[in-house]
Amino acid sequence: MSTTATLATLSDSDLATDPNWWRQASVYQIYPRSFSDSNGDGLGDIRGITAKVPYLKQLGIDAVWLSPFYPSALADGGYDVDDYRDVDPKLGTLEDFAEMSAALHAAGIKLIADIVPNHSSNRHEWFQEALASPKGSAARDRYIFRDGKGPDGEFPPSDWDSVFGGPAWERITEPDGSPGQWYMHIFAKEQPDLNWANREVRDDFLKTLRFWSDRGVDGFRVDVAHALTKDLTEPLQSKLEIGTEDGTLDGSHPFWDRDEVHEIYAEWREVFNEYNPPRTAVAEAWVHASRRPRYASPKGLGQAFNFDLLQADFDAREFREIITRNLLEAAATGASSTWVFSNHDVVRHATRYGLPKATPEAHKRGKGQDGKAWLLAGAPEEELDRELGLRRARAATLLMLALPGSAYLYQGEELGLQEVSEIRESERQDPSFFRNRGVEIGRDGCRVPLPWTAEGASYGFGDGGAHLPQPRWFSDYAVGVQEEQEGSTLELYRQALRLRRELQAAEELTWHENAKGEVLHFTRPGGWHVVTNFGEESVELPPGELLVSSGPLEGGRLPANTTVWLRWQAK
Ligand code: GLC
Repeated sequence: MSTTATLATLSDSDLATDPNWWRQASVYQIYPRSFSDSNGDGLGDIRGITAKVPYLKQLGIDAVWLSPFYPSALADGGYDVDDYRDVDPKLGTLEDFAEMSAALHAAGIKLIADIVPNHSSNRHEWFQEALASPKGSAARDRYIFRDGKGPDGEFPPSDWDSVFGGPAWERITEPDGSPGQWYMHIFAKEQPDLNWANREVRDDFLKTLRFWSDRGVDGFRVDVAHALTKDLTEPLQSKLEIGTEDGTLDGSHPFWDRDEVHEIYAEWREVFNEYNPPRTAVAEAWVHASRRPRYASPKGLGQAFNFDLLQADFDAREFREIITRNLLEAAATGASSTWVFSNHDVVRHATRYGLPKATPEAHKRGKGQDGKAWLLAGAPEEELDRELGLRRARAATLLMLALPGSAYLYQGEELGLQEVSEIRESERQDPSFFRNRGVEIGRDGCRVPLPWTAEGASYGFGDGGAHLPQPRWFSDYAVGVQEEQEGSTLELYRQALRLRRELQAAEELTWHENAKGEVLHFTRPGGWHVVTNFGEESVELPPGELLVSSGPLEGGRLPANTTVWLRWQAK
């Protein structure tokens, strides 16, 4: 039986009940406020997503991951949640959510919800209750309140910094009007950290997991999964003692990647397993690679993101080392590996790859050393070669889509969309920009609403404007344009995602050792060959039937910055 025939039997309805559906799924991340706006208010919404289900089906993805859609003041793009068991009225209603979930499922697409357990928003009813309640009360114990230092408690309890810049503590005013205690917030001050040592907090999240699982959510993406448990034994350590890394190798950091966090996920797993098929989860945990398996354990969340490829340069040796290591690591836990190049936090990969050699910090944006130019990914925009960036992004993605494991895609990358830098300070929204004014440019450049049409109000995003400004060049990247364009990036994604469904078999990969240093060549079961040329010269193509190519071939040879999939059956 050919591979195609074997896999063609895995129909949409099988996918619906297969407990392993996530292992080699392609997951498309939707940033709801920037995807599609059904009511013309400038913000994308749930009905906008429902209207685009045919587009998602045609794209050929297996699942959608929705970034937060909960009620929120948008201090951090929705990662400041007012109510975990509702839909933001600006985005729709629970009924709209049910319709969207049904439409996705009818199209054979699974639904993954982002869950934000480390912090609520400061508008959450629990936090409001904590502010109105006295020091030492049960309401305050759901968060992390401490007295300040100094004679009048006027200094923060420790010197810890927030990830978005500035101190990780904010002072409150007590109900009687006097200056009061401080609360901890690893992110923005509108995102108070919850106290996971509190049983009520734990139980409430179990309730939330069931709430969404009962409403058709098939899995969860767990936001900053490595921050929930904290060692707040007095005296709090100074940042000079603990360092700035997102964890330590022995779990001794006071708030990143502590071992006890896995007790929480063991409880979550019990809830996931109440469902058939069990609900899945993927951890966003920026931890040392050696500690990632704990998050990916089948007794815990089951899968964890690795951001290694995302942080790597476009380089054969680096790619190979990362792929090999992650496949081994995933196999050791029983999870499958995850792959990702772009998401709502990083510079889009078509832009990163068009800039001079990346550094490990390449996904960051900021100011140059002379303090003048904004840097997109470690370099000023004048140095950006968009064409090269796109070529490499297409090659890298085609390679990624052939890897065993789950491929996570970010909305707009199927259009080869570039990072937007033309956003005025007055139009910026990201708290990392405001808390670091003049130092960090923030993440708005990858969150600009998608262009659906070449013309028209907000390029087809909605009938009104777009909540972040879309540049004129967005028109060239519009879905409508690419649907008519032979060889467009959209066509490439559609082709590759369709073929991937047919070709995926056992989670095995074998490196082909004859390839030159700058060429990677691997095979998957069923005669599926994948070759990427990272070098500058074209190279000979191995034999086989050409299935798809990330760019045109050159006289039958594989050009620089190009990937091909071939099928080759041994006689
Ligand atoms: C995660 C999210 C990011 C958010 C942060 C705080 O890293 O991906 O967008 O700002 O958590 O919730």
